[in-house]
Formats: sequence, structure tokens, C-alpha cells
Amino acid sequence: MTNREKIPVHVTIIMDGNGRWAKKQGLKRIFGHKAGVESVRQATEFAAEKGIKYLSLFAFSEENWSRPQDEVNLLMELMVDAILKETPKLVKNNVKFLVVGERTKLPRVVQEKIISAEQSTSASTGLTLIVFLSYSGKWDIMQAAARCYKEEGVSGETLSPEKFEKYLATAGIPDPDLLIRTSGEKRISNYMLWQTAYTEFYFPEVLWPDFRKNDFLIALEEYSARERRYGKTGEQVNNL
Ligand code: FPP
Repeated sequence: MTNREKIPVHVTIIMDGNGRWAKKQGLKRIFGHKAGVESVRQATEFAAEKGIKYLSLFAFSEENWSRPQDEVNLLMELMVDAILKETPKLVKNNVKFLVVGERTKLPRVVQEKIISAEQSTSASTGLTLIVFLSYSGKWDIMQAAARCYKEEGVSGETLSPEKFEKYLATAGIPDPDLLIRTSGEKRISNYMLWQTAYTEFYFPEVLWPDFRKNDFLIALEEYSARERRYGKTGEQVNNL
């Protein structure tokens, strides 16, 4: 890359296309998810190599609970396996692991593995890897509104975005600079609705199980070429 490269602080990925990838190979959908774990590994390694501070992955949405029970069960097993297998490598590579979402809906064993992986990696100071599980943007805004009202009794006049977002499930995590959704779909699909207000979006055609470091590099090059204006004029931003 050129010396004009801008490294985003937070990259988030909607990992899409596992089912289509499996179908193309004549395999059951779960094999697409299994193959997607390797892409997770590569994306994590690449983010750490590039000095990205936060990499977040949309792994399971609230809506995904309505998939066939077999697929949901196998996905949960896959998560547990991946967490168990990868945690020692995360510790070794100074990666902090976090899960965001409605955890109480997850099977107990998944909740336990998550807590254990979060505790084991809590002292890491490098990349933070965030997995969104049982998450939806509308759920997040609703739970934040309810807690904000309950805990602060905030009235309309004193409410501010800064005060409100402390109650989002992502509190403390900077908003994403770049969102990548693989497989050519161009939707936000009830993901981080509040947090992506000024995020740059990038929609490569590649299916998630085929996503490799070079695809990530191309996404970063595309991001570097964008001018972010946050509602201001180009001149105002350049004079900052
Ligand atoms: C979307 O593809 C993908 C998912 C719903 C699951 C993603 C999960 C993994 C890659 C498993 C491992 C994750 C971690 C964090 C270890 P899709 O099934 O919607 O694909 P389709 O649109 O082609 O049907």
C-alpha cells in the first residue's frame, strides 16, 4: 500500500455467503460455516498484523434463531469448538476476546465458554476481537432506551447521544470505521444500526469461506481512498 494508507480503528464484518458456498460445492450448509472459521482466523491474523485495534464479526443474529433447529445447534457447537481451540492462540497473540449480544438466549455451555475466553484474554493489549452473537441493532437500541430511562430517568431535554450510547451493548467500543459485508448482499440486516451512522460500507462479491487476507487488503485500500466528511464539506474536513 502507499504511504497514504489509512488504517481504520474498528473494522466490522458481516460474514455472509456460507450457505451459498456450501451449495456450490454440493455440501450441506454447515460445511460452509465450518469453512468460514478459517476465514475468521485469517481475518483476525490480518487485522492484528495491520494494527487494527478492533475487529468485530456478526456471527449470529437475533433473526438467526429462526433457522432450522439442526443448523442452529450445529452453529452453537461450532462456536464452542472454535472458542476452545482458538483461545490459547488469542492469549499468545495478545488478542482480547469479547462477545456482544443477548447472551441469556445462548445455551449455557456457550455462555460458560464465552466467559472463560473473555477472562483468559482480559489482560491482552493488542487487537480486540468482538463476536456479535444473538445480536440485533433494534434489540440493542431498545435495551439501551429501557436501561437509560430506568437508571437515569432522563427526560427529553437532557438526553444526548453521548449519554444514550453508554447504555448500548457496544459501550466503550468505538463506532466502526469500515463495514465489510461479503457475498455481494448490500444490506445492514438489523446489525449495528446506531453505531454505523458514519461508517464506510464495502460490499465485495466474495463468499465468506473464500475471504482471504488479500480480500481484506483490497477492502483497506478501498477505505483509504474514501473521503469521510461526517456531514461537513470536503474543505472543512481537509482544514481540520
Ligand atoms: C452467514 O451465512 C453466516 C452465518 C449466519 C454464520 C457465521 C458463522 C461462522 C463463520 C462460524 C464461526 C464464527 C466464529 C466467530 C468462530 P449464511 O448462512 O447466511 O449464507 P447464505 O446467505 O449463503 O445462506
